[in-house]
Amino acid sequence: MRRRTESGDCCEAPSAVSSSIDNPHKVYEKAETFWSRCSQDEDGMLGGLAMLHGPDVQGSTNFLNALKKNGIMTKTLAALDCGAGIGRVTKNVLMPLFDSVDLVDLIEELVATSAAYIGTDDGIGEKFVEGLQTFEPPERKYDVIWIQWVSGQLTDQDLTSFLQRCIKGLAPDGTIVVKESVSQGGKTVYHESDGCWTRPEASLLQIAKDAGLQLAHKAVQTGFPKGLFSVKMIAFKPVHPVEEDDD
Ligand SMILES: C[S@@+](CC[C@H](N)C(=O)[O-])C[C@H]1O[C@@H](n2cnc3c(N)ncnc32)[C@H](O)[C@@H]1O
Repeated sequence: MRRRTESGDCCEAPSAVSSSIDNPHKVYEKAETFWSRCSQDEDGMLGGLAMLHGPDVQGSTNFLNALKKNGIMTKTLAALDCGAGIGRVTKNVLMPLFDSVDLVDLIEELVATSAAYIGTDDGIGEKFVEGLQTFEPPERKYDVIWIQWVSGQLTDQDLTSFLQRCIKGLAPDGTIVVKESVSQGGKTVYHESDGCWTRPEASLLQIAKDAGLQLAHKAVQTGFPKGLFSVKMIAFKPVHPVEEDDD
């Protein structure tokens, strides 16, 4: 997660490395090792900055309410939390709004911990353990697919394909939300410790466009300490909308 400061964290010097690489397996293995060892709590999900939790939840809730008010998010039956970890976003942002929330994460232990963290099965649908680079969401199911602090774990190519599969997972009039840290100065920054990239916003928007998405609404997260990467919440709709069933 891009909890780090713009100038790098205490353990590593981030480097400008392309997120378009031929053999991503080593990077994905690195991520798996990192996330299987992280603490299974809010602090672990937020890279040691548990104080981000409150403003993050408020910012996301405000964003979803704005999507509702603007007529962008029209239904709240089902949501999918991607890179859900222990279910921090599921519990605090999505469950209060959606009838049912599914979770997907690479790390089985984190998904298992979500039961205790969330504390109820009521409103929880399916839990998938799989990397987003291969995960295929169930088709035509979700009113919102929420992708927070995990898009940087995928290469450009895998993120593009994943977003294309997400489009197929949307219910008619569904929305994809990407909440992500973004770099300044047009350079993608690679983080060695957890094998992830912080992209400039323009790259994220280009990848979404390549996948067949168009911008519907955008906001910047406020209330975070100074010095962190800026965090954007971006809602996308498919360029070719998912059609309603005939029946
Ligand atoms: C920074 S945490 C964010 C967790 C959650 N989105 C939140 O905001 O609380 C990143 C999460 O992404 C998961 N993750 C990392 N790489 C992944 C991948 N390739 N596919 C699916 N999940 C991945 C990690 O296991 C971890 O739970």
